[in-house]
Amino acid sequence: MRQLDITSQAFKATPHSGLAEALRDGPLAHAKLPFLGNIKLALTHETVHAVLKDTDRFAVDARNAGHKRAFGLPFIPKSLRLLTENILSLDDPDHQRLRRLSDAPFRRAAIEAGREQVAALVDAQLDQIACDDTAELDLAEVVFRPLPLRVISKMLGLTDAAQDRLAQIMSGFSGASSTWGILRALAAMGGVVKQLRAEIGLARQDPRPGLLGDLIAAEAKDDQMSEDELVSLILVLFVAGHDTTTNLLSSGLHALQTEPGAWETANGLDADGWRIAVDELMRFAMPVYMTKPRFVIQDTALSGIPVKRGEKVMALLGAANLDPAVFDNPLQLDLSRRPNRHTGWGGGPHICLGLHLAKMEAELTLSKIVDRWPNLVLSENLRWSKRLGTRGLERLCVRLNG
Ligand code: HEM
Repeated sequence: MRQLDITSQAFKATPHSGLAEALRDGPLAHAKLPFLGNIKLALTHETVHAVLKDTDRFAVDARNAGHKRAFGLPFIPKSLRLLTENILSLDDPDHQRLRRLSDAPFRRAAIEAGREQVAALVDAQLDQIACDDTAELDLAEVVFRPLPLRVISKMLGLTDAAQDRLAQIMSGFSGASSTWGILRALAAMGGVVKQLRAEIGLARQDPRPGLLGDLIAAEAKDDQMSEDELVSLILVLFVAGHDTTTNLLSSGLHALQTEPGAWETANGLDADGWRIAVDELMRFAMPVYMTKPRFVIQDTALSGIPVKRGEKVMALLGAANLDPAVFDNPLQLDLSRRPNRHTGWGGGPHICLGLHLAKMEAELTLSKIVDRWPNLVLSENLRWSKRLGTRGLERLCVRLNG
């Protein structure tokens, strides 16, 4: 089985050819990852779907596969406890209950109802860009990092002070690709949890509009969520809803600029064209290229290869999105690709809760950038983020007017 490098800067910069090659070798590969150790990687579309959808054979909670702790690791820092027991890392029936409680505001119709509001936030962010079109500007810093944070904070109904404080703490998250980096990120997470508890306290005393207020009201009505569950759900929404979208914006813009003819095509797209184009950017740019690990519930075979109870398997979404059994010319960015059965949002019961919101943010932001600055060019001042499992640019410098 092929050993894959999925963490280096070289992989982040040009993942496509290596993944395509690995796919030719077979349905599984393996990797050694910080914190998680040795892990099998599901590569093909079919294998990825099996791992994500077959909940009789694969669990997200390691305790359901014979481990003592939810993450399947012998030692878990205390600060991680909230992370090990949230919507992403629980199996049914707890997962179903949390998903039901948080689902409504993220449905397509509910998100579409907020389109104007999100468009206004995008415009406000783009208006802040300095007028000197010829100077070099880091779009990651001035747009792609702050914008999703503003959107998710607005949706949650956080106060401005809390938003600013959280943005400051979250900046400590970058570079979480090594064990040390992950531990540092966890320390930063402690600060986020503290801030969120304070916000929940304030919202309890003084009910307010927004998702946070809605969840507190649901909690009071049905007694369905514990305080810790509420904190960890908000935490997941906050973390999952911001960094991932930042990555789609930066890796998407990078693909539009670097793939032949893509920028010119993007210049002519209408709103429907952008919906299709963003799906293709999700497939090609790989903003989240792997899922959380799944744990094998009992000895079984995955695409003919034996896997043992308790073993970790990760769905390598980025590879499945290049599977030639499903996609014609998978290595080509085709902004009009339809149908597009990409797995960029995961699949099965844990499929991304925020996908309609993220899609809308990307459609609005990228289309407005292309409209405002059709002559934009990338400079060479780029740096890929080191964070494990996601692909985006920490620094993405451009000249707005060529
Ligand atoms: C481009 C942006 C995004 C990408 C690529 C993305 C990708 C993903 C993926 C791959 C998963 C599944 C992980 C797994 O199965 O282990 C997931 C789950 C999740 N995402 Fe997203 N996501 C994005 C944006 C968002 C946003 C904006 C929100 C919320 C505001 C969000 C909230 C969640 C939540 C709560 C889950 C867990 C769902 C569950 O376990 O039932 N995501 N996301």
